[in-house]
Amino acid sequence: MAGFSRDSQGRAWFGGCLITELLSHPELTTPAYWYDLDGIGAEADELVAALGPGGLVAYAVKANSAASILRVLKDRGVGADVVSGGELRLVLQVGVAPDRIVISGVAKATSEIDLAISAGIRAIQIESPEEVLRVAARAQALGTRARVALRINPSVAIDAHAHVATGHDKAKFGIPLANAAEAFALVDQSDSLDLVGISTHVGSTLMTPEPYVSAARVVCELAIARRAQGKAVEYLDFGGGFGIDYGRGKPERPAAFAQAARTLQREQNLLDHRLVVEPGRCLVGAYGALVCRVVQPKITAAARWLLIDGAMNDLLRPALYQAHHRIEAPDTPPAGEPFRIVGPVCESADDFGSHVVSKQAPSHVVIRDAGAYGYTMASNYNGRPLPQEVFLAGGAVLHHSPRPDADGWLRSRLDA
Ligand code: LLP
Repeated sequence: MAGFSRDSQGRAWFGGCLITELLSHPELTTPAYWYDLDGIGAEADELVAALGPGGLVAYAVKANSAASILRVLKDRGVGADVVSGGELRLVLQVGVAPDRIVISGVAKATSEIDLAISAGIRAIQIESPEEVLRVAARAQALGTRARVALRINPSVAIDAHAHVATGHDKAKFGIPLANAAEAFALVDQSDSLDLVGISTHVGSTLMTPEPYVSAARVVCELAIARRAQGKAVEYLDFGGGFGIDYGRGKPERPAAFAQAARTLQREQNLLDHRLVVEPGRCLVGAYGALVCRVVQPKITAAARWLLIDGAMNDLLRPALYQAHHRIEAPDTPPAGEPFRIVGPVCESADDFGSHVVSKQAPSHVVIRDAGAYGYTMASNYNGRPLPQEVFLAGGAVLHHSPRPDADGWLRSRLDA
């Protein structure tokens, strides 16, 4: 699995391409997200194999929704976990089979519920007793039945940034255990709902499977109770959250999470249920890089600033979660005094942190591990166009988006 690497001469490679060579490609510009499609495919193969037959990897599309990536995953048998009507329409158009799609989300619009019911997806994962009634009413109005799952909040805390912990008592997500009995009863009372699954998602950037298994155990207990009542569900969904190595510690591999999930399922004697997992980050994170041009250095008493053309509008994670992303020069291994790397946006939070890059200011830098929650969280803030996207496969550029159009932003604001 490739992603970013360096050869014995210290030259950096990404997706089988020598980065310095691609930088002179006439149609490529900066800032740009480069994606390694072969790496994404290999990562997916490994996880699908680890989960084994009867498992379903439902990729969390919010991590990266580029159709070229969705197609690579679909071709590997990966399904989709979507959180909006937009994402649902996207995966359907890319050709993901409806029975491989689940939709999550704490405040689904009525139009999104309708779309999910009509498309006949695997399940609408319901996040409150109130939502049970809303989905039942829509199924009835459409004159059909809806396949639903209950997403349970397992009340499990994780060691991660507060913004990415979703399975604890105070989170808005999922049905608290205290409300679960009510939600099951409401589903059972409805004659337009089929309860086909029980799901959970404890949070993101997990380093070990333990909290994942703790949350999954809650799902198992509910599934066992359901089966004992003669109302067994079809599938268990333990969620996503498998961490990746951002350069500050190696999490266990996604396959270890899948194996831990399977082991639990076996121990709980629940192998008669299908197992669904919902990873986003681990399939794409390491296989995306944000490639930026260095605008200029700025050496002051405060810092050795390195001013680059990429910014928090392109990659929000450092500003929003104080996330660390490794940053490296393409032509030389890390050396010299650290630079404090910042972008042009007028916010102090537009700061990628201190990095040892090269002795002199380099011409470009590569912000690593930006394939997940990078482009999907980008904005036009400060009147900046969205970054270019470049898709690499077989050691070459497969295709790329047009150069970003600053006039597009200008026109939209003139029309406002
Ligand atoms: N399933 C559900 C219900 C989720 O809410 C999420 C992520 C996932 C699956 C996938 O989690 P993953 O495997 O990617 O960790 N923007 C943040 C991450 C927010 C995650 C939101 N939910 C970041 O950049 O770290």
